[in-house]
Parts: sequence; structure tokens; C-alpha cells
Amino acid sequence: MNIRNTYRIFNRPTLLSMMCRREKGYKIVKRPDPKTLRMPSIADAPSIMDILKEKIRLNGPLTVAEYMHIVITNPTEGYYMKKEVIGQSGDFVTSPEISQLFGEVLAIWFYSETQKMGSGKPLQIVELGPGNGTLMVDFLRVLNKFKYKSNELSIHLVEISKTMQLLQAGRLCVSHKESDIELPYDREGETVSGIKVYWYNDLKKVPENFSWYIAHEFFDVLPIHKFEKTDKGWRELLIDLDENQKPYYRISGEETQSVKMLVRPPLDAGDRTELEVSPRSLGIARQLAERVDQFGGLALIADYGHEGEKGDTFRAFHKHQVVDPLENPGESDLTADVDFSQLRVAASRAPGRDNYAIVMGPVLQKDFLERMQGLARLEVLLNNAKNEEDKEKLTASYNMLIDPQKMGERFKFMAFYPSTMADILEKHPPVGFANLTVK
Ligand SMILES: C[S@@+](CC[C@H](N)C(=O)[O-])C[C@H]1O[C@@H](n2cnc3c(N)ncnc32)[C@H](O)[C@@H]1O
Repeated sequence: MNIRNTYRIFNRPTLLSMMCRREKGYKIVKRPDPKTLRMPSIADAPSIMDILKEKIRLNGPLTVAEYMHIVITNPTEGYYMKKEVIGQSGDFVTSPEISQLFGEVLAIWFYSETQKMGSGKPLQIVELGPGNGTLMVDFLRVLNKFKYKSNELSIHLVEISKTMQLLQAGRLCVSHKESDIELPYDREGETVSGIKVYWYNDLKKVPENFSWYIAHEFFDVLPIHKFEKTDKGWRELLIDLDENQKPYYRISGEETQSVKMLVRPPLDAGDRTELEVSPRSLGIARQLAERVDQFGGLALIADYGHEGEKGDTFRAFHKHQVVDPLENPGESDLTADVDFSQLRVAASRAPGRDNYAIVMGPVLQKDFLERMQGLARLEVLLNNAKNEEDKEKLTASYNMLIDPQKMGERFKFMAFYPSTMADILEKHPPVGFANLTVK
């Protein structure tokens, strides 16, 4: 019997009705009572700890990068997916949350450096990891003064967390909606002055046009691999479970794939015996450099970090305190200092390719803000302050940003310029980075 015949036979009314009729003795198979059935909900999602245990049970110990990736970005239980984490009531505060001056000075920097390049229009402003959206709010307040028309300007936010996307949309837009699945962006919206705003979960999806790229406290959350130099050579630090099912660090017995791929030139461990490398950061720095070089624009990276002298900076923050990164995963912010020397390598060299950006810095945050006339900007704000209390707050916030003991020296700025600007930058050195020679 071929298939067509089968179809015909089953369509015969007599046979069909016979099959559908309840015959005596026909067995009823028991199913649960629909009243007791529950559809799966987010509340049923396994906890981060359960996910980590299962991964380790199935695949063996995790690299620190795998651990960070799960803990920070798991779609339902990841650290940035659940709640507001930035601000006094959260786990940490950032410079834009401390002083409006921060975002305003950054906007002035981008605008003034763009004057060396021509019109700079139409302009895309791209922010990576925008947090509460505060920096962009302050940024746009300044840009309004420079009279960009709404059709000459668009905002593109790279944000992995849907919770944070919604928070940012609430701060920036008068209307916003989730996008169709086939579009490269997850959400789109519009500011009160009619500027279009788009959200993406990956920089690769942002249109390749003339852009200003801002990454403030973004690179420090990207996963790192941790390595230690032993008698047998470089080995990787892994995360395993002890007999009580608690995570602990152990050193790999053999060279892992990551040791082979990452602990080698052009990255240089120097005389360090501990080393942290974030391949994701290297990839994004490379993308930023290539985009700036090929399609025009500027990138500004600001973060806490070093220039290749530190090797063990992985830590966690909970309620403004440093805590053990392996305690209560998902409840605290995981972070590591940015190795700016590695970002420089990633942005400057690409074997077999012509494009590379000019890399400026890193310079200390206090130097950058002071060279950008931060004090003059503070004076303007003080003159507009309503009372003595507000004036005191403004001064204290600015001091926190530039005090070497607080954020002034721990935070650093690095910028990427198109390689075609080398001659211009010789004549007109980059503001904020002055005193440095072009490399
Ligand atoms: C430390 S917060 C910085 C917030 C903000 N830039 C500020 O200065 O206040 C890190 C931000 O990056 C986002 N994020 C974390 N991992 C990400 C990833 N892989 N891709 C895009 N965004 C990410 C977080 O959700 C959060 O908005």
C-alpha cells in the first residue's frame, strides 16, 4: 500500500467514524488533571548555583571566563538580568552616577575632536554597557546645545540585559517597543526631541557608519581567563566543586587550550607570574579600532585598569563591599581591572590587514578631566546651584572623580582615532591626551 492509498482509505467515512467511536473495552490512558498543571515560569528556572554544578558535573571544572559568562549573562538568573544594581541602593556606583559633569565633559570631548575631522554628520552615538542610562542623558543634554537635527543623529546602545534595556528606555525615550525578530536590534525608541534609539545585544549588529563609541565601565565586566606561572610553565586557574559542592579554585594539570591560544606574543606577560586575559575584550577593542578606521569616528574607553603590571585583580562587589567572587554567584558584581596594554595591542595590530587605529593613552582620569577644563565646568555648575548644600555636593562629587586616592588614578582613558588622522593629530594634539606623542 502506498501513501496515497493509505490516505484514501482513512478518508472513507465509514472507517473514520468507526475509529473515532468509543468501542467497548477501549483503554483510556491517564493524564494529569489540567487544573493541577502549571506552565513553566521564570520562577522555575534553575538557580545560577544549580547551572554551575550541572556544567561542572557534565564537562569538568570551568575556566574563570566560563564562570563569569554564566554568572553575569545567564538570560534569567544572570547578575545584570534581575535587578537594578548600580547606585546607592545597588552594589556599586559609577562616575556618571556621581557627577553630571562626567557625561557632559565626555560629550564636549567627542564634539571638539570631531571638529578636526570635518562635518561628522550624520552621527551615530554608540554606547557599550550603558547601565542606568545616566551617562547618555547627560551626554544628550550637551549635544542639544550643538544643534544636531534629530535626523542627523541616532543612538545605538549595546546592552545584553533586557532588564537594563528597559531601564535605559525609561530614562531616554518617550516611546519604545520591542522589535521584530528579524531585525538586528532588540528594541527601538525615540527621545523627546525625536532622536531614534536602538538596542542591540552585540556590537557586530550596529550599523557600520561614522560613530562615536563610548565604553565606560564596560570592559571590566567582560570574562577573563586567569593564568599562573608554575614550575611546568603557564597553567590556567579553574573553578571546581569541593566535597561539599562549594566552588573553589584549582590549577589545571596540563596546558589548557586557552594557555596555548592566549599566553603568547603579541600579548606579553613581562615578569608577571599571574596573568589575566579577556579574549572578548580583545575582540571588541579590535572591532572598535577597525570601525573607527574604516567608517570614521572616535572611540573612548574609560575604566579602572592598569598598563600590564597587574596579574590578579578578579573580584566581586556586593552592597559596595569587596566580596569573594565564588560566594553567592549571581548576587554580586564580578569584575577585573582592564589591562590597557592588551587593548592597545588588539587595536593596533592585525596581521594581514591594513586597518589599524591610532591609540591614545591610557591617561589618568584626573588628568583627562583636568585637561578637559573640568574645573571650569564645575564653576558653571556652582554658579547655577540653588543653595550652599548643592554647591558642597557638586564640589565633593568632582573631587571624588579626580582625587588620586579615590577615582582619579585608578580610572584611565584610552581613545582610538582613524589612522588617516596622524598628521592632523601631530599639529593639533588630542585634547585630554595632550603631552603624549602619537603612536
Ligand atoms: C558596570 S555596568 C556600567 C554601566 C555604565 N556604563 C555606567 O558607567 O554607569 C556594565 C553594563 O554592561 C552591561 N553588560 C554586561 N555584559 C555585557 C555584554 N557582554 N554585552 C553588552 N552589555 C553588557 C551591563 O548590563 C551593564 O549595563
